[in-house]
Amino acid sequence: MTPPGDKSVSHRAAIFGGLAKGTTYIEGFLEAGDTLATLDAMASLGARITRDGGRVQIEAGRLGAPAKPLDMGNSGTGMRLLTGALCGHPDLFGAQVELIGDASLSRRPMRRIIEPLSAMGARIESRGGHAPLIVEPRALTPLSRALEVASAQVKSAILLAGLNAGGETRVEEPGVSRDHTERLLPAFGVAVEHADRQVRLNGPARLKAARITVPGDLSSAAFMIAAAALVPGSRVSIGPVGVNPTRDGFLRIVERMAAGAVQVHPIENASAGDEPVAIIEISSPARVVGTCIPAEWVPLAIDEFPLVMAMAAAGQGDTVISGAGELRVKESDRLAVMSRQLGRLGVDVEERPDGATVRGGRVRGGRVESEGDHRIAMSLAVLALVAEGPVEIDGAEWIRTSYPDFARHLESLGAELKWR
Ligand code: S3P
Repeated sequence: MTPPGDKSVSHRAAIFGGLAKGTTYIEGFLEAGDTLATLDAMASLGARITRDGGRVQIEAGRLGAPAKPLDMGNSGTGMRLLTGALCGHPDLFGAQVELIGDASLSRRPMRRIIEPLSAMGARIESRGGHAPLIVEPRALTPLSRALEVASAQVKSAILLAGLNAGGETRVEEPGVSRDHTERLLPAFGVAVEHADRQVRLNGPARLKAARITVPGDLSSAAFMIAAAALVPGSRVSIGPVGVNPTRDGFLRIVERMAAGAVQVHPIENASAGDEPVAIIEISSPARVVGTCIPAEWVPLAIDEFPLVMAMAAAGQGDTVISGAGELRVKESDRLAVMSRQLGRLGVDVEERPDGATVRGGRVRGGRVESEGDHRIAMSLAVLALVAEGPVEIDGAEWIRTSYPDFARHLESLGAELKWR
């Protein structure tokens, strides 16, 4: 099975392609709500975009002020990275750019980017630290900043602003977060130094058009991996999929919960954009067991915790998650929402401010709700495969934001889904 294109890399390829001079060619672009919103935003900023499925061509040169607000939909990555890229862009000096999002995105914290970008000289108005954001691009000064949370979005927003600041911009992180920006910028001709949770680049730097192949998304493949781990007698091969070590926490967690079930077969030279890629084979283990997840793995698997909680519910024993307060500011408050929804299926979950303990065992059928969060809907669908009765999921349409083929892929593994 081939997973959809990586969401994080697709956002970056769209943004960098729209900033770069010349024609950028992207293969394997994720065709989903979030990333198509970013592509539309780049078109509103003046890039000429043609698309045939996951094959995208972006012809860009000078940015122009958009005629209407840039609608980033449900995507924190799109909004935060683009704000960083635009707030010091010389083509937009004197203009005003408004970035808006849906109800979920408008609740998410933006101060985490507004504050450092403002320290660089950016002018960004918000509604009490939330979208809509109004950016008035102007000259920036470089920044050296140690972040309080390991966040690839905040790191990337500062680095992209740094492209327009004269001198060295440097970001240091308290823990490892995904490094797609650092890996992809060099393909667009920008030198980036990164090692030991520190990243530096020198501005001003202009991007040059590139040819990019987006790897498969491990965060989407994770649902199929979990399905195969939970349903006895399964054997699934999925790929090519990105296995960037700053993003592979889910594989490490599965190795603990389903020992020996996963095999990773690296493919050499598969991606342009410096991303390691592999074929992943999974066969269901004798049993899935609970585990205590090290706090330093949290940023490495940040998007997979709803799924980890679902697997934990179906496994044996307790799974303990801590140091995961960031889950409260994702597309939903994922600790609260998963605890609530698992509770509806009779699962015992103890929720704490920075984590939860999930007591595995019986999972009843019942009616649950995505609460507007794509990954909650998909995690509950995977858990439904092993529930004692049918599970009805309200709000499953949110899955389109990241994985429109999810239902089809799950059905191809043998799952029975009905739509209302
Ligand atoms: C992303 C970074 C993560 C992740 C998000 C995608 C990215 O967010 O949750 O889905 O592409 O940079 P944070 O960096 O805020 O943790």
